[in-house]
Amino acid sequence: MLQINDLTFDAWGRRFFEKAGVSLPPGSKVGLVGRNGVGKSTLFKLIMGELAAGGDEIVLPKNARIGQVAQEHPATPVSLIDTILEADEERHTLLTRLETADPEEMGDIWTRLIEIDSDSAPARAAEILAGLGFSVEDLERPMAEFSGGWRMRVALAAALFSEPDLLLLDEPTNYLDLEGAMWLEARLKKYPHTALIISHDRELLNNSCTHILHLAQARLEIYTGGYDAFEKMRAEKSRLQLSAKAKQDAERAHLQAFVDRFKAKASKAAQAQSRMKRLAKMEPVATTIEERVAPFTLPSPPRPLAPPLIRLEKANVGYEEGRPILRNLNLRMDLDDRIGLLGVNGAGKSTFAKLIAGALGVQTGELHRDRKMRVGWFHQHQIEAMDPEDTALEIIRRAMPDATESSRRSRLAQFGLPFEKQETTVENLSGGERARLLLNLVAMDAPHMLILDEPTNHLDIDSRRALLDALNEYEGAVILITHDRSLMELVADRLWLAADGSIKPFDGDMDDYAKFVIDRARVAARAPTQVKREAAAAAPAAPPAAPKPAAGMAGPLRRRLEAAEAVVTRTTKALEEIDAVLADPGIYVKDPRKAAELGQKRLKAQAAVDKAEAEWMDIAEQLAAVETA
Ligand SMILES: Nc1ncnc2c1ncn2[C@@H]1O[C@H](COP(=O)(O)OP(=O)(O)OP(=O)(O)O)[C@@H](O)[C@H]1O
Ligand SMILES: [Mg+2]
Repeated sequence: MLQINDLTFDAWGRRFFEKAGVSLPPGSKVGLVGRNGVGKSTLFKLIMGELAAGGDEIVLPKNARIGQVAQEHPATPVSLIDTILEADEERHTLLTRLETADPEEMGDIWTRLIEIDSDSAPARAAEILAGLGFSVEDLERPMAEFSGGWRMRVALAAALFSEPDLLLLDEPTNYLDLEGAMWLEARLKKYPHTALIISHDRELLNNSCTHILHLAQARLEIYTGGYDAFEKMRAEKSRLQLSAKAKQDAERAHLQAFVDRFKAKASKAAQAQSRMKRLAKMEPVATTIEERVAPFTLPSPPRPLAPPLIRLEKANVGYEEGRPILRNLNLRMDLDDRIGLLGVNGAGKSTFAKLIAGALGVQTGELHRDRKMRVGWFHQHQIEAMDPEDTALEIIRRAMPDATESSRRSRLAQFGLPFEKQETTVENLSGGERARLLLNLVAMDAPHMLILDEPTNHLDIDSRRALLDALNEYEGAVILITHDRSLMELVADRLWLAADGSIKPFDGDMDDYAKFVIDRARVAARAPTQVKREAAAAAPAAPPAAPKPAAGMAGPLRRRLEAAEAVVTRTTKALEEIDAVLADPGIYVKDPRKAAELGQKRLKAQAAVDKAEAEWMDIAEQLAAVETA
């Protein structure tokens, strides 16, 4: 599908690729991995032609469509659903042409529309949007109303919907919650064409990818299988290389010793000569050992405070005079608590983080918070809010105003930003380099508590491990929000769940939670008689936080109902459009073939309407049953 031959690329005083080559099998789902700053996003730019390599190193089949999610979607007045539908350019063009086409053309256009299954497009789009966490009310909202993070998801949805022959995704799970990430894993797996996905997310790399493409030391190497298989193969490979190298080193030493000993002796000069030649010809064995990533330093607080750090009683939390976002919080945190905070986007996790960080107060109820408590709070918006013109050196100057320039620079080097990157502007740092800088800055003042909201986004897999090690060393309290299941498991010793307008302890582990999430979705799709039983079974052993079946069920059902309603509206509209064309009796005379095609098309459209209506009725009944339960 995509072929890269002999690619060499230098930029910004560095060699990024040296005679790199790879060929992606058609239909493969390839995970592109490698250290932060190694040049993965740069490779995408080369493939897209945004950066020029030289000549014909990058080969794609003729007319292949490439799709990528480069930036968040612009804030236009177009509705969400239309934005997605328009991403299928062919369909959009056909529909636009239909408006002004003469009857001659119309038949051809309809034929092609049927071929590309244009009718099912709205349903397909709605399914993708639902998977990425959009509600049905969102479908008709203009793009301008969505935040940057959500417009990023729109761009992802649009790319998936338009189904390019080569789909390029750069760290797609970074802007998704756990639920969205799990959906995307499944979706990518059955993507009908080839996909190249940059990711540091082990779950995604294991569950969705057929191959792993590793970029290291300016070379590309492709491995069959997921990430775990890749790691094993690579470990084995470097073991073999090391032993080959050890063997060669021994032989080299042996030859050298012979040469040293006998080169002055006339009788042995010939042998010494030939050995010297052999020595010179020996190709050094390449080793794939990468350098260790820089560790994270999370300095522990100097003196513990008196427990508890935080106590909340019957607290309601919200913004200004508005309705509370979180109600009736009864929680307590102690000095070395490790809390994993779960919940979908919008459940109030960030509001809670703000409260704990001291950026928001309670509306009613009680909040005890030690006045001397220092909190380090890391979240994604900080990365987005960085001034693109700023440099790491400028930033650390502001953070350490009284220090000397050399101690500032060595601090940055400790953070993992070597001298040559300290004056690179923020916009030119890679995602991982930015995240690393901010994480280190947040923890610099030895806080009593760290609130880490998706800290591993952008970090490469080895850096994630380094962060985990540092968190284990750190002696303060931690609140962790992450869609990285393994990190959550390894850090959190208690789980709290934000759901239904409150936060409560979740009695279960991450496996229970994953089951809980999946079952909740599945239960919502079942008949109402099964709902109650299943919901009870889905909840982990006596979970105080599990929503009551009826209350939990109504929301998803209502959303599905509205989705079904939207489908009814759209299919009906499609039917009406055909009827409008057929209403002209002239068409049967002018072009009987086209009229016949339209007749066929009408049958299909009618069937779609019937199906949509039946679906709507079914869900409406389920909802009625749940609401009266
Ligand atoms: N315009 C530029 N000027 C200077 N350095 C640059 C510029 N653009 C990129 N770089 C550097 O090139 C390197 C590669 O960047 P790239 O974004 O390709 O990394 P990446 O592999 O995608 O990393 P990550 O995993 O962190 O996203 C980085 O070290 C970055 O700082
Ligand atoms: Mg990148």
